[in-house]
Amino acid sequence: MKFHVLTLFPEMIINGLSTSITGRAMEKEIISLDAVNIRDYTISKHKKVDDYPYGGGAGMLMQAQPVYDAHKAVCKGRNIRTVYVTPQGSVFNQKMAQEFAKEEELILLCGHYEGIDERVLEEVVTDYVSIGDYVLTGGELAAMVMIDAIARLVPGVLNNDVSAEFESFQDDLLEYPQYSRPEVWMDKAVPPVLLSGHHVNIEKWRLAQSIERTKERRPDLYERWLANHDQGSKSK
Ligand code: ADE
Repeated sequence: MKFHVLTLFPEMIINGLSTSITGRAMEKEIISLDAVNIRDYTISKHKKVDDYPYGGGAGMLMQAQPVYDAHKAVCKGRNIRTVYVTPQGSVFNQKMAQEFAKEEELILLCGHYEGIDERVLEEVVTDYVSIGDYVLTGGELAAMVMIDAIARLVPGVLNNDVSAEFESFQDDLLEYPQYSRPEVWMDKAVPPVLLSGHHVNIEKWRLAQSIERTKERRPDLYERWLANHDQGSKSK
């Protein structure tokens, strides 16, 4: 899968994603990361990319022209899904990550200053996505969060594809607790069922733990899970 990031800070994107699992996936050419400097596309003599907003107000806006031309240079006439990362978007979640992971190519547009001229957004953006209800100084960290979450779902990026299947948010439940060696640490023993070798009991225990943990930590998810799993006993 190819990620193109339109940004004023390409080095931030490259540095942020070139280590660990995403870095290895790039080396293996399972994913590629193309960080495009929007400033390279300005036609302004002084390489300017921002200006004052019409109507007044605080701060500067990124201008339409460099963003449009950078986008055009990436698309080369193709239609590529283009995500504007913005606090004004739908809130990113695992389901959206799964959906984006089906794309061959994805463009992420990062804003800075007070945002981007609306006219170019209307021309190029297909999806408006936020990573949460708080405001960052720019879209780069949000784009990196999204790329990381999407990339790990691309086949071959994780060493074993099953680990992306049974994890938090699958089916609205958080993941169960996990334990490794030693069997006893600081007087705390690993739950005996995990040492039993009885796979059916282990699965049952894990599901019960997932449900309990979700109820306690994420009552919102728990309610949704209940609504989808309790129809028989609740209705009529
Ligand atoms: N840019 C600034 N804040 C953001 C957020 N919360 N999500 C996505 N992009 C952003």
